Amino acid sequence: MLKTIGCGELRAEHAGQPVTVAGWVHRRRDHGGLLFLDLRDSTGLVQVVFHPESEAAAAQVASGVRAEYVLQVRGTVQPRLAGTENADMPTGAIEVVASDAVILNAAETPPFSIVEETNTSEVMRLKYRYLDLRRERMARNLRLRHQVVKFIRDFMDSRAFIEVETPSLGLATPEGARDYLVPSRVHPGAFYALPQSPQQYKQLLMVAGVDRYFQIARCYRDEDLRGDRQPEFTQLDVEMAFVEEEDVLALIEDLYAQMAAVVGAKFSVPSPFPRMTFAEAMEKYGSDKPDTRYGLELHDLTEQVRGSEFQVFSRVIEEGGRIRGFVVPGGADIARRGVDALTDLARENGASGLVWAQFTGSGALEGLSADDVRSPVSRFFTPDQLGALAAACGGTRGDLLLLAAGPDALTSRVLDTLRRKLADDRGLADPNTLAFLFVTQFPMFEWDATEKRWSAVHHLFTAPFEEDVPLLESDPGKARSHAYDLVCNGQEIASGSIRIHSRETQLAVLRTLGIQFEEAYEKFGHMLDAFTFGAPPHGGIAPGIDRTVALFAGERDIREVIAFPKTKSASDPMTGAPAGVSARQLQEVHVALDAVARDAIAAGARVDAEEDA
Ligand code: AMO
Repeated sequence: MLKTIGCGELRAEHAGQPVTVAGWVHRRRDHGGLLFLDLRDSTGLVQVVFHPESEAAAAQVASGVRAEYVLQVRGTVQPRLAGTENADMPTGAIEVVASDAVILNAAETPPFSIVEETNTSEVMRLKYRYLDLRRERMARNLRLRHQVVKFIRDFMDSRAFIEVETPSLGLATPEGARDYLVPSRVHPGAFYALPQSPQQYKQLLMVAGVDRYFQIARCYRDEDLRGDRQPEFTQLDVEMAFVEEEDVLALIEDLYAQMAAVVGAKFSVPSPFPRMTFAEAMEKYGSDKPDTRYGLELHDLTEQVRGSEFQVFSRVIEEGGRIRGFVVPGGADIARRGVDALTDLARENGASGLVWAQFTGSGALEGLSADDVRSPVSRFFTPDQLGALAAACGGTRGDLLLLAAGPDALTSRVLDTLRRKLADDRGLADPNTLAFLFVTQFPMFEWDATEKRWSAVHHLFTAPFEEDVPLLESDPGKARSHAYDLVCNGQEIASGSIRIHSRETQLAVLRTLGIQFEEAYEKFGHMLDAFTFGAPPHGGIAPGIDRTVALFAGERDIREVIAFPKTKSASDPMTGAPAGVSARQLQEVHVALDAVARDAIAAGARVDAEEDA
C-alpha cells in the first residue's frame, strides 16, 4: 500500500506514531515559514505541517503543489499546539509532521472548487463528474447509497428472499412508458427492449416456485425527466407467492422502519405507517401522494355555496363539479402580490381562476364586517358567509381561504399544487420527519382522453377486487384494484400490487384495455400460458432505490445520489452519450436513419450542453 492509514482515521491516540498518508491536496496555507496542507482521501481530511528548516527536502516538494495534486507524505503524528485544535474536524486534535513527500501526480486547476459548494452548472458538474464526486456531499451520498443497498440485501436475506437476476434484453410491450430499443444483428428487423421493470420475469419466477424473490434491478424508461425521474434508475424489485396485500405492506413497513433506524437515525419516522385509500387521499389532499407532515386539508364546500349568485360556482355545480378549498393558517399576511402569484399558479394548472378571502385580526370567524375581509368575491358573499366557509375548513381570523371550482380532477390538481407551494413557501414541512404512509385501493383504470381508451392505473397485471370483476366490462372506471403505494413526504417511493393469476381474468383486463385475444397472445402469450400451469396467487412491490436514498440524504433531486446520472434531456455530458455510430455499425444491425436523424447529424446536433446549461 502507498499509505499505512487513511487521512481521516488519525486520532489523538496515534500521537508519536510514524505514518504514511496519501491523498489529494485539499487546501494549503503558508504561515510564517511553516507550510500547512490539508490532505484528503476517502476517509476524510488531515492537516500536514512542513518545517522548511528541519525537513528542507519535504518542504521543497510541498511548496510546489497546488490544489488536487496527489501527494504521499511520510511523517509522525503529533498533538496540535494548545489552542490550535479544530473541534469541527474528526482529526482536529492532531497533525502529521512531514519528513518526506512525493508528488504521485500533478493536477490542472479544476473547473470548479472541490472544497466549496460553489454555484456550478449542472452540465459542468456532470461533464467533470469524477471531480464533482470528490466533493464531501457527493462522497457522503455515495456511501449512504451503499449502506442502503447493503441494508436491503441483508434484510431481504434474513426474511428468506433470494436475489435472482433477470435479463436486460427483453421483449417490447405495449402500455407503460416508451421503451429503449436495442436492434438485433442476427435477427434483421427485430429489436429487444430494455426492461422498464422486471415485472413479467418476477411473476414468472413465482410460477417457477421461487416464492420469495428480490433484485436490485436497473430499469429503463424513455419518459420526460424530472427531479425524481431518470431514464435509468434502480428498484428494489420484490415478489412473493401465497400472500395477500397485507403481507406485502407489512414487509415493506418493517424494511423502511428498520432501514430508517440504521441509515436515517436523525429523522423522526412516525410508525405504524398510516393507511389511506386512494379515494380518501384524493378527497383530503387532492393527491395520491400527499405530504402528511402538515395539514392544509381540503374540504368540500359545494353544499354551502349552492344557490349563490356567483355564476362561476353555480355553473360548475350545474355541470356536476364541486367547490373545494382549504385554509392557510396565518395566510392573511400574504401580500396581494403573493395571492396573485397563487392565482397564476392555479391558472397554469388549468383553473379559470382562484377564489380567495383573507380575514384580518384574530379569534373566531363571527360577526365579521366588510373591513374584516379582503376578497374578490365580496360582491357575491357577505363577510359572514365567507367566514362560515373558512370556518368549515377549520380556519380562524388571520387566515387565508382558497377555493377552486370544477370537476374533481381539476380541483384536485390545482389545490394539490397550491398546498405544496404554500407549504414550501411557509416552511410548513418538518425537514427532520419522514412521514411514510400507504395508499391503497387504487382504481383499476383511468380514462385516457387523448387516446380515447382505458389505461391501467398501476399496470395490466394488477388484480381487481374479486367483487369488482363484473365491472371490467360494465363500468371499468369503478373497478377497484389491489394496487398500493408507499408514499413519503409527498413523493411516491414504492408501488406494487397483488397480481392476476388466472388466464381468464388477465384476458378480461386486456380486453378492457382494448387488447383482444390475438394481440394478447402475441404480446403476452408467455404470461397467459404460464397462468395455465398452476400459477400460485402472488403479489409484490418495487421501491425506488434512488428516491429512497435521496430521502435519507435529504436531497431533492435523485441525480445527487446517482454516481453518473443523465441530464434532463437524457444525455451524459462526460462521455457524450448518446452519440452517432459508424455507418458500418448501423448496417450490421440493419438500421437506416431517417431524414430527421440525417439532418440532425448534418447540423452537428449536440444541443444538450447549451439546453441544459
Ligand atoms: P412503478 O412503475 O410504479 O412500478 O415503479 C416503482 C417505483 O420505481 C421508482 N421509479 C423511478 N425512479 C426514478 N426514475 C424513474 N423514471 C422512475 N420510475 C419509477 C419509483 C416508483 O415508485 N413493476 C412495477 C412494480 C410492481 O408492481 O411490483 C413498477 O415498476 O420509486
